[in-house]
Amino acid sequence: MIIAVDGPTASGKGTIARRLAEHFGVPHLDTGLLYRAVGRQVAINGGNPDDPADALAACDFPDELMQDDVLRAEETGGLASRVSVHPAVREALFKRQRAFAEQPGGAVLDGRDIGTVIAPDADVKLFITASVQERARRRWLEMVDKKMDHEEEIPLAEIEKDIVARDARDINRKDAPLKAAADALVIDTTAFDREQAFETVLEAVQEALAAR
Ligand code: DC
Repeated sequence: MIIAVDGPTASGKGTIARRLAEHFGVPHLDTGLLYRAVGRQVAINGGNPDDPADALAACDFPDELMQDDVLRAEETGGLASRVSVHPAVREALFKRQRAFAEQPGGAVLDGRDIGTVIAPDADVKLFITASVQERARRRWLEMVDKKMDHEEEIPLAEIEKDIVARDARDINRKDAPLKAAADALVIDTTAFDREQAFETVLEAVQEALAAR
């Protein structure tokens, strides 16, 4: 059983995907971390994330980088969004994601193009969204909550601006843009807290699985 969870940045899709994986007892892959590792590796290499050759070279990042907390920083998210526009980068990361999706027993993957490109054959496709203001608020609270040593506190307005820019880049890129698959269940969590969001999603997934 493959569950594809897509959506814009800070929509809560990561938490929902992790909890769905726990619920169904299958492994979970946050595919954004792969792009974040590439973005971080470009910076380590002293390269330019907008240059396709520099970004492709960074796809050889060491596995340990996936565990580094710096991947979760806002700045790394911005770099990830920039390297993710290059088709060669997307292709280099495809196999890894596809292999994860195909493992026996199934998997939950979250990202931007899981239902459209990586696993168009997924049993359930979800597109989790929320308003820009709400996503900025959640991201800000999260950052205040686990303020990292290397991060200064960023004002809410700046986070909102960053989210709008990130959305525009993810939606407008030519290759595998952020969009809901035609057969995805679109769930707007703006008015929900974490628990309500998960319960709504779980119910929708169970219904979809029962109707197969
Ligand atoms: O989900 P996230 O914020 O960790 O993702 C960081 C960036 O990676 C996002 O702005 C776009 C890119 N990304 C992508 O292009 N495709 C995916 N499947 C996952 C992430």
